[in-house]
Amino acid sequence: MVSKRVLSIKPSGIREIFEMATVDAINLGLGELDFEPPKEARDAYKEALDQDRNRYGPTKGIDPLRRLVAGKVQKYRPDITLDNVIITASGTQGTMAAFQTLFEDGDEVLIPEPGFVLYEPDSILSDAVPVPYPLDERFQPDIEAIKERITSHTKGLVVNSPSNPTGAVLTRESFQALKDIAQDHDLWVISDEVYEDYIYSGEHYSFNEIIERAVVLNSFSKSFAVTGWRIGYLTAPLDLVNYISNMQYHLVACPPTPPQFALAKVFQVQEEFIKKVVPIFDKRRKAMVDGLNDIKGFHCHMPEGAFYAFPSYSQKISSRDLARKLVANGVICAPGTAFGERGENHLRFSYAASEGNIANGLAIVKKVVESL
Ligand SMILES: Cc1ncc(COP(=O)(O)O)c(C=O)c1O
Repeated sequence: MVSKRVLSIKPSGIREIFEMATVDAINLGLGELDFEPPKEARDAYKEALDQDRNRYGPTKGIDPLRRLVAGKVQKYRPDITLDNVIITASGTQGTMAAFQTLFEDGDEVLIPEPGFVLYEPDSILSDAVPVPYPLDERFQPDIEAIKERITSHTKGLVVNSPSNPTGAVLTRESFQALKDIAQDHDLWVISDEVYEDYIYSGEHYSFNEIIERAVVLNSFSKSFAVTGWRIGYLTAPLDLVNYISNMQYHLVACPPTPPQFALAKVFQVQEEFIKKVVPIFDKRRKAMVDGLNDIKGFHCHMPEGAFYAFPSYSQKISSRDLARKLVANGVICAPGTAFGERGENHLRFSYAASEGNIANGLAIVKKVVESL
């Protein structure tokens, strides 16, 4: 009845938990900000509608927004221009367009495990083989393990920093090692940098630095709290941009027009918004990690970025069963295995939640876990 293609991808392990939740459950599972977008952005969207920006636009996005994005990215690589930029209908769609453009039958794509939920299905839907690589105890990519997995079929290396689900930020050493691997083995780096602005310690290293062999995925979803607007962007080498754009045409024709005009108008507000939000998240991060480390059997590494904590636990229960038990007791979090098998014995908590909800939610987690 349906295609083998759709049957080849698994349903989301996060959705299952959300579907079990009651309306009053404390949500520590959110992958989006618990703030509204800045007022200037909302006003600019309304203005775009009233100024008749309601029609199809260019497949690569409107030039004023592409130019602003290029300006932001130039700090990593000064020769990037608007010609390297494609505005996408979200990071999710940009990821698919990049995978479908680069990979085909027989290609192998190295993906982090635990890692974000798109990389495995997008590889499979591009007829490529996802090859998971492990992370070390600080959730940095295991460089030796990556090297061991490289074959003559390896074409892509997916990197995600700051990471969902681990919150880890690549160190300078990891960044350099990954760049060397890409260079030495002639790989494409697909770098998902959608949490670029959420760094609490360390620094963001961007694969825009090696744009000759990278597609860098980004999004306005998290940086402007506009997950529902479905607007992202990517940067790629000039000779790849037209191919990705051609693929994008067949996926969405063009990214949505009104939010592009809105974001072009208020682009500079982003910096101010992030300056306000990041210290709030930093405080929550500490409350979350302290609370988790206070639970018997739990161990939580301090995440350096994004807004997730990814504790391990020693209790003998699968992460799926534990997450189901927690949601039955009124707390939503994601099972570690939603991010691959190496996520077993972990849970993912989001601190895109008020300090009150973090405290109340973790009190329930402690009670449930310690009574196991
Ligand atoms: C690591 C990562 N990449 C990409 C995305 C996709 O973001 P969007 O499609 O909203 O731009 C997300 C969303 O949660 C994410 O966590």
